[in-house]
Amino acid sequence: MAKAGGAAIGVCYYPEHWPETMWADDARRMREAGISRVRIGEFAWSRLEPDPGRLEFDWLARAIDVLHAHGLGVILGTPTATPPKWLVDKMPDMLAVDHRGRVRAFGSRRHYCFSHAGYRHECARIVRALAERFGDHPAIVAWQTDNEYGCHNTVRSYSSAARLGFRRWLKARYGSIAALNAAWGNVFWSMEYRDFEEIDLPSGAVTETNPSHRADFERYSSDQVREFNRVQADIIRALSPGRDIVHNFMTFHVDFDHYEVMKDLDVATWDSYPLGSLDVFPADPAHKAAYARTGDPDLQAFHHDLYRGAGRGRFAIMEQQPGPVNWAAYNTDAMPGLVRLWGLEGFAHGAEMVSYFRWRQAPFAQEQFHAGLNLPNNEPDRAYFEVKELARDLARLGDLGRAVPARVALIYSYEAQWFLRTQPQGQNFSYIEQVFVIYRILRSFGLDIDIVGPDANLSAYALAVLPSTPYVPPRLAASLESFDGRLLVLPRSGSRTASHQIPANLAPGPLAALLGIKVTRAESFRSYAAVPVNYGNEARKFDRWREFVVAEDAEVVARTGDGHPALTRRGGAYYLAGSPDAGLLEGLLERLAREAGLAIERLPPGVRTRRRGPYRFIFNYGPGEQDISSLAAGDFVLGERLLGVGGVAVQKEGH
Ligand code: GAL
Repeated sequence: MAKAGGAAIGVCYYPEHWPETMWADDARRMREAGISRVRIGEFAWSRLEPDPGRLEFDWLARAIDVLHAHGLGVILGTPTATPPKWLVDKMPDMLAVDHRGRVRAFGSRRHYCFSHAGYRHECARIVRALAERFGDHPAIVAWQTDNEYGCHNTVRSYSSAARLGFRRWLKARYGSIAALNAAWGNVFWSMEYRDFEEIDLPSGAVTETNPSHRADFERYSSDQVREFNRVQADIIRALSPGRDIVHNFMTFHVDFDHYEVMKDLDVATWDSYPLGSLDVFPADPAHKAAYARTGDPDLQAFHHDLYRGAGRGRFAIMEQQPGPVNWAAYNTDAMPGLVRLWGLEGFAHGAEMVSYFRWRQAPFAQEQFHAGLNLPNNEPDRAYFEVKELARDLARLGDLGRAVPARVALIYSYEAQWFLRTQPQGQNFSYIEQVFVIYRILRSFGLDIDIVGPDANLSAYALAVLPSTPYVPPRLAASLESFDGRLLVLPRSGSRTASHQIPANLAPGPLAALLGIKVTRAESFRSYAAVPVNYGNEARKFDRWREFVVAEDAEVVARTGDGHPALTRRGGAYYLAGSPDAGLLEGLLERLAREAGLAIERLPPGVRTRRRGPYRFIFNYGPGEQDISSLAAGDFVLGERLLGVGGVAVQKEGH
């Protein structure tokens, strides 16, 4: 996609939306702005195959040639997120079905069911045809499979294809119906099955369906995404050797296991919409107000670090917000300078490319309110000039090298999220919120963070944090066991088996020996029933969850106001027996970071940093101007000591 240490600027472009007479000038102006990558094609099926079997690729070939002639590298998207009307009419049962049994009809996008074998076959056909035609075209630098798997809540489908697929999947997983009945505990409420053919999808029942049933349906649905993607990736890999294969992931999207999908891809790319995401993300109104036109100071970085991990070091931003979007509840404009800042921040975290969505605002269809780099009448919009500035910055910085390896690992698990939402037990328990708060605090200490999957090798880290992870697979248990840095384990970890039962030795199950504790009871509560915790001099509390812990072989470091262990420790491994309020969590993370030997710098609110290669980047998300001299360790290559809102400074360290 770009060479190591590289930093390419890209743009999303839809030649099929514009007269061919505009293409050459578009390409010329892209180059003029410093753009070198263009993603095209991902929704163009109705133009690529207007009638069944009638392939019309010549227009795409001409578009690719024009871009190539201007020295632009092309990322070609497969059009499978938008199956055309004729295909849907030919195969109506390919449509996804929602949990109430309603068919998700044609008329927008992503209307297919991942389990449908016939649709996969159609996808394989169009992808093969595209890869045969363009696979060795010199302009093609990468392929994007489909577009935003799971967007618009499309991972889980309750179609008959999904039901049949789920039964097959269960049979392969459990072998016999007796084993499934035992693993799910189906004796409870007479839910036992005599045959896999009797099993339906977990919806429509009178009250809560069996959590084991739902947990397996989450796994099944996630596996369908991986298999759907692999069909395309295998074809492209064979027909377009040497090109990266990527997918564009989303913000806080947890409905499928991205680590699994990445096993078939080369670069994890994601779509960054800071303002839209802040609007739809639950946060307190004062926070939203403070960052309404800059975006949350940690939200973009969180995803950069998440996807750098998922991409085994290789990630990029496929779509970057250029101005107001159309899809949030309210769609603010970006403060001037933020388009540049978001771009630089992506590069600081190691992105190979930051690509803007989209080249020109569309005057028709669903996204008319969505800004582009150019207005619908083709006059350059504000973002166009910020992209130019970004290109000048990159030229000044030269080779960026790689993201500096972090010493802190935050262990992130999609399955943990599925288990926790299957049986939340308290409505305010949120895995994503917990993970994000941990990340925000660690980052406010000026630390670089790696977000890693449950299979990661932890040996290079000084500090690791395991957020609430109900099922701890053997491999993760083993790497935590042998980890010799400081470890913080949050409540509910190890509290369930693989099939969503309580472990025979109670929570924390496989982590019992490591932590030296046993959990005998848990309670959830609304914030007014918070449990005071005696830690340090301030009033601290568990604000939504607490556990009653027996410290069998662990030191009790802190207790709740009513005398129960709140924080235990065995060697370097700490267990927190409740959901901490922000102050408690901050105090605790600071303690562990210091014990781990990490240098902490308390950053002003809204100021954040990241190191890449020889550089340290400093960003000011506001709300006010900041004097960053205390962070200054070297010469400013960009920016200066006084950093305005939306400002970026880059220092070369060690000079
Ligand atoms: C993304 C999507 C794009 C476009 C964009 C608008 O979710 O991939 O196709 O719809 O949002 O912000």
